[in-house]
Amino acid sequence: GVHDAQQRFDAMIAADERIEPRDWMPDGYRRTLIRQIAQHAHSEIIGMQPEGNWITRAPSLKRKAVLIAKVQDEAGHGLYLYSAAETLGVSREELLDLLHEGRQRYSSIFNYPTLTWADVGAIGWLVDGAAITNQVPLCRCSYGPYARAMVRICKEESFHQRQGFDALYVLARGAEAQRRMAQDAVDRWYWPSLMMFGPPDTESAHSEQSMAWNIKRFSNDELRQRFVDIIVPQAEALGLTLPDPDIAWNAERGHYDFGTPDWDEFKQVLKGSGPCNRQRLEHRRKAHADGAWVREAAQAHAAKQAARRAA
Ligand code: 3HC
Repeated sequence: GVHDAQQRFDAMIAADERIEPRDWMPDGYRRTLIRQIAQHAHSEIIGMQPEGNWITRAPSLKRKAVLIAKVQDEAGHGLYLYSAAETLGVSREELLDLLHEGRQRYSSIFNYPTLTWADVGAIGWLVDGAAITNQVPLCRCSYGPYARAMVRICKEESFHQRQGFDALYVLARGAEAQRRMAQDAVDRWYWPSLMMFGPPDTESAHSEQSMAWNIKRFSNDELRQRFVDIIVPQAEALGLTLPDPDIAWNAERGHYDFGTPDWDEFKQVLKGSGPCNRQRLEHRRKAHADGAWVREAAQAHAAKQAARRAA
């Protein structure tokens, strides 16, 4: 009965084993995974917009080619993650409807505008850097399809982070106007990238249960701290400063102290009143409507092929 199945599930989690689609799982485990994987996928798809905005205005053919490759990767990550979510019994049509109706989230970070070319560098270095810090532990998530998707995605994410760091490195050593543009981008993307790790642990609704189920391996604050410890020396290597006067090495803790993100701003963005929330969703809905004919044609073609095979 369910009691035995629950016991088997609990034993597998206690033994840190992988749960696969065909295994019995508590409804709550299924629900929180659908929630997190779907929102992760939505983040990848919406995340194409801020950077895509600069593909036609990249400063060189090399930067344009790299940016096209990165944005294309994000699309692939999204489709990969929708496939992982589908193993839990939902369809991507359903998930996209929930996104378009504002009933499922995407990462707060993509509600900020990309004002200059340097933003593409700051996004690669900080946003993809934060994504890597968050995604590496997810490679050990207890749900098999999600963990395996993360392994593939993390490999491509390191290219994303590298190309962003490289672009900022070049700008920071360019003309004074270029250095100032790079510093301005870092000033605008630093705090929002810290918010990618979620609210403080004390306000995290899901952390305790997600950690008990080996979905979340480290708390929001632990990963945020890990990320700051990584980017402080990197900012020094770039010759750029982080807009946080509270950053200081704390020898006792063995970590950098840093300031407190503006959680009111975070709550505003999650409520939908960030700088770009409306524009991002409108653009997404339009892209979905514009793409309807492709989906219909693909389905008609698949039906014809099936009919030919059946004949
Ligand atoms: N943006 C939007 N919503 C956020 C958020 C953020 N930065 N941080 C937290 N939230 C939401 C949560 O979804 C939850 O709301 P919900 O119940 O409606 O889903 C609520 O705030 C409370 O937060 P919790 O800490 O309780 O939620 P989680 O346990 O889910 O932790 C998380 C939040 C750390 C983001 C976790 O969901 C996670 O690790 N998700 C997978 C990673 C992910 O989604 N990354 C997106 C980053 S962008 C990206 O990867 C693209 C890359 O290519 C750049």
